[in-house]
Order: sequence, then structure tokens, then C-alpha cells
Amino acid sequence: MGIEKATDAVVLVGGKGTRLRPLTMSAPKPMLPTAGHPFLEHLLARIRAAGIEHVILSTSYKAEVFEEYFGDGSGIGLDIEYVTEDQPLGTGGGIRNVESALRGDHVMVFNGDVLTGADLGAILDTHVEKEADVTLHLVRVSDPRAYGSVPTDADGRVTAFLEKTQDPPTDQINAGCYVFTRAALEKIPTGRPVSVEREVFPSLLTDGSRVFGYVDHTYWRDMGTPEDFVRGSADLVRGIAPSPLLEGERGEALVHPSAGIGGGALLIGGTVVGRGAVIGAGARLDGAVVFDGAQIEAGATVERSIVGFGVRIGPRALVRDGVIGDGADIGARCELLRGARVWPGVALPDGGVRFSTDV
Ligand code: GDD
Ligand code: MG
Repeated sequence: MGIEKATDAVVLVGGKGTRLRPLTMSAPKPMLPTAGHPFLEHLLARIRAAGIEHVILSTSYKAEVFEEYFGDGSGIGLDIEYVTEDQPLGTGGGIRNVESALRGDHVMVFNGDVLTGADLGAILDTHVEKEADVTLHLVRVSDPRAYGSVPTDADGRVTAFLEKTQDPPTDQINAGCYVFTRAALEKIPTGRPVSVEREVFPSLLTDGSRVFGYVDHTYWRDMGTPEDFVRGSADLVRGIAPSPLLEGERGEALVHPSAGIGGGALLIGGTVVGRGAVIGAGARLDGAVVFDGAQIEAGATVERSIVGFGVRIGPRALVRDGVIGDGADIGARCELLRGARVWPGVALPDGGVRFSTDV
């Protein structure tokens, strides 16, 4: 069967991305650079490769940034429309709100921050075969507490939906991609914020709707935290995570042609270096995500960290598991470890932050 051209895709991109602050103070989460492209571009390329052409971006926070970059979508072979919430309507409200833009009988909905290799045609086939009202893509994770836990019966029918509970009944979780028939979507209340996870799915499960799961074991990651963003980016660079945009470009590091790399610098672990960035001699970057125009000076070390636009990391500084906001200036020999976050434009003097008393 596969995907008919008439299938619409809706991508929910209206969240504030608070767990990725301060990077999301200047750009919405799905537009953060990831292996050389805004994250959303990887997702849109996957939607396009699956045969869907009509995409509706459900925007709210920093809505204009999406349209400035993608326009009408023709540059990437898509027909993109934008439906913007002045006040965020939540995930369910965002889905309901695009109804007038839909063209087909069913719609594929995507969370805008999920990196996966799921077979979209197979999810839609399951939906049709089961004569479902809603079909959810499900994956298994080691710690389901941060996600929607979704048990299914022997026939694949969803029996419950428990969003972010401390004691989830199963490690099978909502992977953030759904097929809705038009009629099921129209059951979502209008005119107020609605959570698809906390309100829509539980009520569909009690009103007799046919809600099914499609479980697979492909690559899957929610990019919503610094740890996951760094891992997902590195996995894209190294070819562990799929993206139609990166065919033939994979390796230990992805360096923009305009970046300058000093002698003896070591770039490993899926490091990505953005446009116009400068890496000093002998610097060591392991799983680093370096945004455009950043400067990492001689002998500095950056591990599993995100370095924002135009940041300067001084000589022999160490950043490990950190997030450095746009334009910050980290003085020589500073140490920033274990989840440290530096706010945009902050300047730390040479040697100003240490985790040890070594010179
Ligand atoms: N249009 C719109 N309006 N979009 C929104 C809104 C809103 O008010 N709020 C959030 N979104 C978008 C976000 O931009 C994101 O792309 C998507 O909805 C999901 O929001 P997240 O904030 O990333 O949710 P989560 O990661 O905590 O949990 C969700 O994803 C998990 C899988 O990654 C839930 O769907 C979980 O059940 C699921 O397991
Ligand atoms: Mg998320």
C-alpha cells in the first residue's frame, strides 16, 4: 500500500524548548543546527522521502523563524503551510487547529523533535489494515518515565496511555508520530489548550475508538534535552542515526567548508563544526556541537557539549556536558562540567570557574 499522495503531514513545532535553554531563547528547538541542517529539515526530508508532499507546520513560539527558513517548501520539494497559535494550544489543540488545512482522509502527526528511522508507510499500512481511528508509533526505551507509556494487547490495540508517570506499566512508549483519521481529529475540543497525551488519547480509549500501536526497533531519540541533542547530533554525523540529507557525508566529524581548523586539533565522536567557526591548534573536540561563528581557542577541550552561535572558548578551557549560550565568552582555563549552562553573552574571566585547584 504505502503512502498516498493525499496524506497530509502535521509537524508540531510550537513548544518553547525549555529543557534546551538557553539555546532555545534565540531559535525554536526544531530549528537548532543539527549535523549541518536545522533539526526539522532532517525530519521534513524523511517525510518527503516517504512520499508525503503536503506538510502543515503547527507553530507558536518563534513561529516566524520557520517560515523565514522554509518558505513555501518548494526548495525542498514540499508544499508547506503554516498554522500559527497566538496562544499555545498544546499538542492536541495544535493538531485540531490545522483541520481546515487538511486535504486527505487521514493525517500523519509528528512531534518536531524526534529523530528516528521508522517506516512511515508501514505505520500508515497498519492504520489501514486495523481500520483504526488512531495509530501510534511505539518504541521501547530503558527508562520510560519521561515519556508516554503505552501498553497494547495481543492484537496491537492500545489499552492505556499514561503520560510521564513515575511507575509506568510498560517500557513501550509513545514515539511521537500518529495517524489520525479526520473523524478522530474532529473529536478534539476547539478553542482551548488540549494535551493530546493527557486528554485526547485517554478519552479516545474510553469512547470505544479503535486506537492501535505500531511497534518497531529502529533508531529513535527525542532531541529535547542537551544530552539527547548531543547524542542525536553525533549519531547523525557518524551514520548511526538515519537522515536522507546526509547520504555519503558520514564520519567522525562534520566540518563546514568555511570553518578553520588549526594544526593538531582533534575532532572525533561525531563532532560538528558550523559555518565560519574557528578551531585553534591542539584543541580537542569529542562529540561537540559547535554552532556557526564560534571560536574554540588553542588547547581547549569540548566534550559532549553544545557551543552556541559566536561563542568564544578561551585557550585550554574545558567544557564537558555543558551548554554555552550564544555569544558567551569563556575565559582561558575555565572548567565547565556536568550540565553547566552559560547564558547568552555572559563573559567568564580567565580561570574564573574551576572544579579543581590544579593550575
Ligand atoms: N503547535 C504546538 N502548540 N506545538 C506544541 C505545543 C503547543 O502548544 N506544545 C508542544 N508542542 C510541540 C513541541 O514543539 C514538540 O515538537 C512536540 O509538540 C512535543 O512536545 P515536547 O515538549 O517535546 O514533549 P515531550 O518530549 O515532553 O513528550 C512528548 O514526546 C514524547 C516522545 O518524544 C509526548 O508526546 C510523549 O508522550 C512522548 O513519549
Ligand atoms: Mg520532545
